[in-house]
Amino acid sequence: MNNKYETHEHDVLVMGAGGAGLRAAIEAMAQGARVAVVSKSLLGKAHTVMAEGGIAAAMANVDRADDWRTHFRDTMRGGKFLNNWRMAQLHAQEAPDRVRELEQWGALFDRTADGQILQRAFGGHTFKRLCHVGDRTGLEMIRTLQDRGVTMGFDVFMECTIVKLLTDGKRVVGAFGYWREQGRFVVFKAKSVIIATGGIGKAWPVTSNSWEYTGDGMALAYEAGADLKDMEFVQFHPTGMVWPPGVQGLLVTEAVRGEGGILRNKLGERFMEKYDPKRMELSTRDVVARSIYTEVKEGRGSEHGGAYLDISHKPAEYVKQKLPSMYHQFKELADVDITKQPMEVGPTCHYMMGGIDVEAETAQASLPGLFAAGEAAAGLHGANRLGGNSLSDLVVFGRRAGLGAAEYANKAPAANIDDAQIAEAEKAMLDPFARNEGESPYAVHRDLQQSMQNLVSIFRTEEDLQQAMKELEALKQRAAKVRVEGSRMFNPGWHLARDLVSMLIVTEAVTRSAIARKESRGAHSRIDYPQLDDKVWGKQNNVTSRDGENMKLRQVPVKEMPAELQQVLAEDK
Ligand code: FUM
Repeated sequence: MNNKYETHEHDVLVMGAGGAGLRAAIEAMAQGARVAVVSKSLLGKAHTVMAEGGIAAAMANVDRADDWRTHFRDTMRGGKFLNNWRMAQLHAQEAPDRVRELEQWGALFDRTADGQILQRAFGGHTFKRLCHVGDRTGLEMIRTLQDRGVTMGFDVFMECTIVKLLTDGKRVVGAFGYWREQGRFVVFKAKSVIIATGGIGKAWPVTSNSWEYTGDGMALAYEAGADLKDMEFVQFHPTGMVWPPGVQGLLVTEAVRGEGGILRNKLGERFMEKYDPKRMELSTRDVVARSIYTEVKEGRGSEHGGAYLDISHKPAEYVKQKLPSMYHQFKELADVDITKQPMEVGPTCHYMMGGIDVEAETAQASLPGLFAAGEAAAGLHGANRLGGNSLSDLVVFGRRAGLGAAEYANKAPAANIDDAQIAEAEKAMLDPFARNEGESPYAVHRDLQQSMQNLVSIFRTEEDLQQAMKELEALKQRAAKVRVEGSRMFNPGWHLARDLVSMLIVTEAVTRSAIARKESRGAHSRIDYPQLDDKVWGKQNNVTSRDGENMKLRQVPVKEMPAELQQVLAEDK
């Protein structure tokens, strides 16, 4: 390899500095690996903090009857049985240990009267299962993992975007990226790479995700030859802010409903009685999001096109103690006092259930040397994720990815970097500066968001999805010709030009998979195929992979569940 670029060499390279990336890095360090964490943003500035209401773990501190079996069953039911059952089993079994570990590392959870970790109710969970820190659980987790990791001493590269995974033809051997501030290129040599870059919320205009979430890790894995799985399953959290417009989509934690919040339409009707009379506001997210959407579509929406979420029947001090962030969020951003008035809420794009296909025990992707964890990985949540299962996912599979990647690195020979791959990636990055004409990446991004919102949203039809494919094709052509002005220093338009490439790969995978799945399951609702089809679609996953310049989709049978787990599913409490 020539020495034209700043180069760093590690055993394990972790992309992403949210909960999964930090937990993976901690584990790889503990195994003796030399570890780098690269983040396009700042260390710990991650979507993890948007899991506000808690981390799901069957600790049985509040409801004594809870155990891993019930958690496993709830997760499988919530995911409409398309989950990787082995991941769901490991997750339910290991989550309590991961929570205790966080506590040992300094996380200050809310307590029961007898001093145990307090747990609250959440949608789709049979028991009070979410360990929490008011409504700032993700933030406390990040703080804890960050302290732990920084003390252990991994190398951190912040505001550094990876634009290509480097391979030697057989396995991943590193990555190529650039410093966002200076625009200078940088090479990372590594024996294994963990992708923990989160999801793709920024492909939709109304989202709880911040600017970082452009599907980078999924797109890079796909480009390098790894499989993506079940990309049609995109979660719309039922409650984002709808007013004022500047904060539309900002998350309103499910903990509001967990603490007793009630949803009403403009007629004052508690409409969840119609859609899920048993679980009401604590139904699963796919159901509650569709219910709110339907109320609005049918003319019973709130003043600004959502539903009313009311917790003002609870004592003001209780609300402020349990939901301090929500109290301040609404007071400061919407001039609403939630101890006295209802909030206006509506669905917001929140989470991607699909992602990089990984093996349950080690989190290894289909490409050797590549691992993935957290939202970037697929499997655990099936067709719909239960609230609170993301934070437990991050620590259970973050740890497993760290272990798997360190073990792999321990056996792998030193990496050989191919200069031609770097030259190609560099040229692709610089092309937008070389064009004399071409439109702005911002215009393409805005139109992409509109296409996804209008055509690939909560309810889907063949006609809309086919139209989306046409629009995505046109957007791809436009994105290939965008022009960027100015220099490589501090140039957000240039960053977006690359992010567009990722978003277009991932949204194409979402749309193709949504066209293929001719049924309604979890977060994928087809108006033209409104039923579950357990005979065909309940038995197969959609797998997306690269075939030269084309995207290829195939169906892979779901692995048969062992008898003892089938027995657990059959039991009911
Ligand atoms: O509503 C929430 O607090 C989000 C939690 C999650 O997505 O797991």
